[in-house]
Amino acid sequence: MSKQAIGIFDSGIGGLTVAKAIKKELPQEQILYFGDTAHLPYGDKSADAIRYYSIRISKFLLEHDCKMIVIACHSASSVAYQILKDFFDDRVQFVNVVDPLVHAVASLKPNKVGIIATRATIKSNIYAREIQRANPSIKCNSLATPLLVPMIEEGFSAGKISDDIIDHYLGQESLKGIEALLLACTHYPLIREKIVTYYSHQVEVLDSTKIIAQEVQSQLAKTNLLSDKQEIPDQFFVSNYTKSFADTTSLFYGHQVSLKQENLW
Ligand code: DGL
Repeated sequence: MSKQAIGIFDSGIGGLTVAKAIKKELPQEQILYFGDTAHLPYGDKSADAIRYYSIRISKFLLEHDCKMIVIACHSASSVAYQILKDFFDDRVQFVNVVDPLVHAVASLKPNKVGIIATRATIKSNIYAREIQRANPSIKCNSLATPLLVPMIEEGFSAGKISDDIIDHYLGQESLKGIEALLLACTHYPLIREKIVTYYSHQVEVLDSTKIIAQEVQSQLAKTNLLSDKQEIPDQFFVSNYTKSFADTTSLFYGHQVSLKQENLW
């Protein structure tokens, strides 16, 4: 059987923001999405736990003949990308969400960049390290912003509660004077406009959804794996199904999708 789908995984349904961008860029491709809702949030897990989950999910995606695996989660991309590449050798190509953001900020060349993300991503220090490697003159300040994920998932992306939480985080001393801000989490594109407004359009606010979709397109083209026609419908799996996950898919994907439970553990 020829390899068909683009495999995409995340700790939950937030990675649907990445899946949505890929589908928009490549509407003729089949998507096979896996959200590890049994183990979310990854942002508060140890690096070892995230690596273990990521390997198991990637095996599942490979068993379903995925031609590429997109790690649509910043926490997993930060701590598990290298181990996935080593573990699966050249059996499949992995695309992570960190590299495109690092390239984008390196070409923007701000004097000072802020990075907001989950605790796991910030603890890995991967963004600051890779940006510094690409351009040592860019000063990087990172801040864990753990309240933003539950705030967005619970539907508080607008209104006073979200204003207060966003003001609290973005007002921190470490983010003073930044010229660019990296939204290094699957959920944050949903509050991008609010953040742009917070900075009165004076700070470049970058998220990786569109650039990751372009990266997927270019990698598939390079390896001659682009589809010209979608043969099989997209599929969306979760490791633990609840109605509230199903309802929240529309927040991240634009419309509700049908989730199937696949307990890998
Ligand atoms: N998907 C995660 C990320 O991008 C956020 C949610 C979680 O902590 O699991 O880091």
